[in-house]
Order: sequence, then structure tokens, then C-alpha cells
Amino acid sequence: MSILIQQVHKYYHNLHALSEIDFNIPQGCFFGLLGPNGAGKSTLINIIAGLVYATQGTISVMGHDVRQQWRQARQSLGVVPQELVYDPFFTVNELLRLQSGYFGLGRRNQPWIKELLEILDLSDKTKVTMGHLSGGMKRRALIAQALVHKPPIIVLDEPTAGVDVELRQMIWAFSKRLHQEGHTIILTTHYLEEAETLCEQIAILDQGKMIALDTTHALLGRYPYRMLKLNLTTQNIKIPSTLAEKVQSLTQNELILKLHREHDPIGAILETLRDAGIHFTDLHTEEPNLEDVFISLTHREKS
Ligand SMILES: Nc1ncnc2c1ncn2[C@@H]1O[C@H](COP(=O)(O)OP(=O)(O)OP(=O)(O)O)[C@@H](O)[C@H]1O
Ligand SMILES: [Mg+2]
Repeated sequence: MSILIQQVHKYYHNLHALSEIDFNIPQGCFFGLLGPNGAGKSTLINIIAGLVYATQGTISVMGHDVRQQWRQARQSLGVVPQELVYDPFFTVNELLRLQSGYFGLGRRNQPWIKELLEILDLSDKTKVTMGHLSGGMKRRALIAQALVHKPPIIVLDEPTAGVDVELRQMIWAFSKRLHQEGHTIILTTHYLEEAETLCEQIAILDQGKMIALDTTHALLGRYPYRMLKLNLTTQNIKIPSTLAEKVQSLTQNELILKLHREHDPIGAILETLRDAGIHFTDLHTEEPNLEDVFISLTHREKS
């Protein structure tokens, strides 16, 4: 296991920001940490990173307790925080050289830094001070900073929030590559499609509690509904009473029914529609996505 989280609680004064968090993240896993605003994701990540102390419970990173063996734990982690924290007077080059020195890496780390700068498209920004970079460029520099020591575990707290399409795709491609090379990746995001595509395992936090922890595949399988979409040719249709509860939306041209995977066989549904004189030119089904699962678990729209 790369990270062991045992019975962690966090209080900010009276606010119980994390409650009884207890799970492990296997080595080499692409792990998603999801949840609405204020769920406690960044708090948990900051505790893992040693930036915030848990009120109770223990966390170990690659076998090192984050409090007792802070240095060793920190060595295994590369953290890109949600908030862009930087010294505006350092150039990109100075930032990376300093971080490299912090981990005791000298000139021999130069080839990796050069590669990082190329991958992140920062090669022509090395002499620019952080304060003079655009928001997206700052994020790139902070990603480079987090990866200077090639840590086995990479933590990305909402890396794609507010970035342009190009940078988002670059972050996806780079994190996929790092995962393929064996790094453990922990990602928080509000883009559920992103989590669905990238993550092998997902934990969902809500109001400081863990409400789901599973493989992405199993999590999607938990949602027992799918949508049946019909392009109507009949106008002003009257929905049969047996289907009324299943109607998700109805317009002049389209009827969408929410069907239970086991209890609502499509053949029988289509027969009921035909008997009611409802005709259509085309139909297709839509399988649930992570957004459906997320909403059903947190009982709210994604935020
Ligand atoms: N330093 C702090 N002092 C007091 N309360 C805090 C502090 N940091 C976070 N909180 C509170 O703890 C709760 C969890 O916050 P956290 O930032 O961990 O949520 P999050 O899941 O990362 O949310 P978001 O999706 O908005 O980033 C929130 O209610 C927040 O207001
Ligand atoms: Mg956060």
C-alpha cells in the first residue's frame, strides 16, 4: 500500500471537517477523491502532505508516519495544491533548482528538470518570475515543482479547475503517462467525466464522511438505472399510467424514460408505448455515468 489512512478525524474548532476516515490507497493506483465543495478533500490531502495535522488518527505514506517521519513521507510525495502558493520573485528556474536542492538533488537532476520543462511547455519561461506568469503557466510551474524529485506518489488537488483546454489535456496525458510508469496518482476533481476516464478507484467524501469507496467500474454498476431516449413522431402523446413515474423528460420531439436495469425490460416498455399509440423514428439507451452515481449518493447536483 502506498498510503494507509487510519481512523482520521479533523476538527477546525467546532467543525468536524473529517470524520472516521479509514482507507488505503494501493501502490500504482490512479485514485480519485471526489465530493461536493467543503466535503473535506483538500483537508485530507493536506493531512497526507503533512501540511495540516489530523486531530486524531494516523496516516502513513510508503510506510512512513506523516508526523513521526515527516521528511521520509514528504520525500515520497509530490503535491500540487488547490491554491496556487508561490513566491512571486523567484523565476521558474530558481523555483525548480531550489526544490531540487531541498530534496538533496544536485546537477544530476538537471536532465529531468529539462524534460519536465519541455513536457509542461515551460522551456521558454525559465527566466520569468512567478509573479509575471499567467494563471495557467503558474499551475504548470507548480506541477513541475511537485515532480522535481520524481516522487512515487503524486497528489493533484483540482489541477484542471479553471485551466484552458490545452492545459487540461496536457495534464490528463501527463498524469496517464506517470501512472503507466508506476506512479500512484491521487486526483481530486469536480469534472466527473475526468474521474471516470482516468481513475481506477474512487472515494467520495460528503460533509467530512466517506460515503463511497470502490473501483470506478463497481461504482458505476451500483446505479441500477439507464435512460431510454425516443425520437417521437406522434404529437401530443398521452403517457400510459404504468410509465408515468419513469418519465424523465418529455418534449414535442423526445421522450426520455428512466428505466431500472432489471425491473424494466425494454421490450415490454416498447410494447406498452406501441399499445398507447406512441410512435418513434429512433431510439437509444444511455448507460449511467459517474454524475448519476454522484448525485444519487450525495443527493445533490454536482458542484
Ligand atoms: N483552515 C481552516 N480553518 C477552518 N475551517 C477550514 C479550514 N480549511 C477548511 N476548512 C473547512 O473545512 C471544510 C472542508 O474544507 P476543504 O477545503 O477540505 O473542502 P474541499 O472538499 O476541498 O472543498 P472544495 O471542493 O471547495 O475544494 C469546509 O467546511 C471548510 O470551510
Ligand atoms: Mg478543495
